[in-house]
Amino acid sequence: MSSANPASHIGGGGPNSGDLPEHVAIIMDGNGRWASARGLPRSVGHERGVEALRKTVKSAQQIGLSHLTVFSFSTENWRRPVAEVNALFGLLKAYVKRDLSRLHEEGVRVRVLGTRKGLPQDVSDLVKRAEETTEANDKFTLCIAFNYGGREEILRAAQAMTAAAIKGEISADDISEDSFASYLDTAGLPDPDLVIRTSGESRLSNFLIWQAAYAELVFMDVLWPDFNGDHLSEAISTFRQRERRFGGVTSGAA
Ligand code: FPP
Repeated sequence: MSSANPASHIGGGGPNSGDLPEHVAIIMDGNGRWASARGLPRSVGHERGVEALRKTVKSAQQIGLSHLTVFSFSTENWRRPVAEVNALFGLLKAYVKRDLSRLHEEGVRVRVLGTRKGLPQDVSDLVKRAEETTEANDKFTLCIAFNYGGREEILRAAQAMTAAAIKGEISADDISEDSFASYLDTAGLPDPDLVIRTSGESRLSNFLIWQAAYAELVFMDVLWPDFNGDHLSEAISTFRQRERRFGGVTSGAA
């Protein structure tokens, strides 16, 4: 199935349909398996993964989403062979170098979630450039989680908040869900409404574990390099059929 406008496939409009998610987050999984199945090196799977990412960003914009976050490199991915780690760094650099000016023209704000600790200087500099160049854009936000781990992010936020408390800037009573969230890498962003994971695996793998507390999870049996706008529309359609209660009860329940 393919279509020029992915929005045309999104279910909804009927009495049970929900709103579009404001923020979709994706665990782009299955690049390695995609490559192995074709007898290709894993790095080729990641290259094709970048193509799928480009298509997905475009589809997300066409559908009318405002925030998209993608998991590109986790703090656990350092355990991979050094050549693969370097290939992922190279792909991030190539993506930013090739796509930044277009994204900027399209009004996309780029944010990179995760720690800069351990990143090569040139990667760090490029990330900074992408964030600074697009800082004032507000048509669409693309967050790239790179060198990202949810627990690491939470610990960094706790350390920063403790440091503020030691300086007397905040007190224990000031620690609330909202104030804590303002110390996370996602400060100012809406929580993801929908988290998609490709490749048939059903785990969060340390991705946005604070922010996804109430997200709907959709696991899809497609390897990331094969993912396209139709898959995104399908996931959104599934999301819109779900009933979100946020710990409450169904409206109209006795
Ligand atoms: C998981 O597949 C995917 C990753 C660890 C990296 C995701 C990266 C990209 C899609 C491309 C990079 C994009 C940017 C912007 C840097 P896997 O390798 O774990 O696949 P497997 O589970 O089949 O082995």
